[in-house]
Amino acid sequence: MTATASQPLHRVKVSGDAAYTIDIGPGLLADAEHVAVHLRGRHALIVSDGHVAPLYADALERTLRAARPTLSLARYVLPPGEHEKTLARFGECLDALARLGATRDATVLALGGGVVGDLAGFAAACWMRGVDVVQLPTTLLAMVDSSVGGKTAVDLPSGKNLVGAFHPPRAVIADTATLRSLPARELRAGLAEVVKYGAIFDESFLSWLEAHAADLLGGDDATLAQAIARSCGYKADVVARDPYERGDRALLNFGHTFGHAIETEQGYAGATGDGLNHGEAVAVGMVLAARLSAELGMADAADTQRLRSLLERLGLPTTIPAGLSPDALLARMRLDKKADASGLRFILWDRAGLARIVSGVADEAVLSMLASG
Ligand SMILES: NC(=O)c1ccc[n+]([C@@H]2O[C@H](COP(=O)([O-])OP(=O)(O)OC[C@H]3O[C@@H](n4cnc5c(N)ncnc54)[C@H](O)[C@@H]3O)[C@@H](O)[C@H]2O)c1
Repeated sequence: MTATASQPLHRVKVSGDAAYTIDIGPGLLADAEHVAVHLRGRHALIVSDGHVAPLYADALERTLRAARPTLSLARYVLPPGEHEKTLARFGECLDALARLGATRDATVLALGGGVVGDLAGFAAACWMRGVDVVQLPTTLLAMVDSSVGGKTAVDLPSGKNLVGAFHPPRAVIADTATLRSLPARELRAGLAEVVKYGAIFDESFLSWLEAHAADLLGGDDATLAQAIARSCGYKADVVARDPYERGDRALLNFGHTFGHAIETEQGYAGATGDGLNHGEAVAVGMVLAARLSAELGMADAADTQRLRSLLERLGLPTTIPAGLSPDALLARMRLDKKADASGLRFILWDRAGLARIVSGVADEAVLSMLASG
């Protein structure tokens, strides 16, 4: 099936109290009705960043105006980068809604990567105690992960994503043609999150990724759309079962406890190239989680090697960056939201494709694994 003006290449449904669809395919943003059908009221605010807005916001605005000539439409563009996902930018976004005169039936259109999606989603969650957000993800990471599931947040100086809300989108529309302008490094970062779904839920998806690694890295449209749809399917299932992350939705954090520690320890320097970005840190974190699983006797070391080889083929890092001490990383992990009163909690695996939550992991086991390379 190919995408046509009103037909996505793939459609994934998220069920539950706030059910919605995820449409995936090239050219969906140019189809005004596809986006406009989700607008309930007279006001819409496009939120985007300084890289994405010049590429796609004009076209989106044009098509929306064509579909809804009476729509009051405004734009809030923040500078790109994780360091802009702040309370100050969130406040500016709310100011933009106020200037627009947005009423309770307004829609926020989040056009960008995970930074835009998280911040715009949080603004939508808070404006008048909650208005619609339609997620229009433009990075692979946002298409397979952050735009789905309703987690929204901004960062504080003391940590990532510390202030936020659960606010499911009204719809997700992933126009895969936008991936053509995505820097190769950002595409690879998104592939780390794609691999994560195979690692935690489905060994056969890992085999599929191994067979299609070259096409994915090369940006092949149809293969990417298939990988996105399968990834969204896994996420949709777990989000429907556990919308507020009280249970097995936490499996999605495979590699993230280590990854966040690395990102925080490096001061979120990924955007400048002085550190790992989120997806790269998750790639390293997944290998560390697999190694810890093997060292605790839960899993076979051959599975670690398989994961490492796939990530390396996808151009992702698999070892802790030089200069980060095991003690410092452990201290960061103690502050992570994923730690609780019982001590350090990790998502580990029994084998490739089967992850589980493990609480009360001893500090010594973590330190010895980190110290061994
Ligand atoms: N809410 C969730 O469930 C969830 C899940 C995972 C990650 N996240 C969050 O997502 C964020 C990371 O998202 P990200 O990796 O998309 O980062 P990002 O939003 O910073 O985007 C990465 C870079 O790509 C640029 N860009 C985006 N789309 C582009 C395009 N089509 N063409 C050219 N350039 C483009 C951006 O301007 C930016 O410079 C983090 O803040 C993370 O905490 C949230």
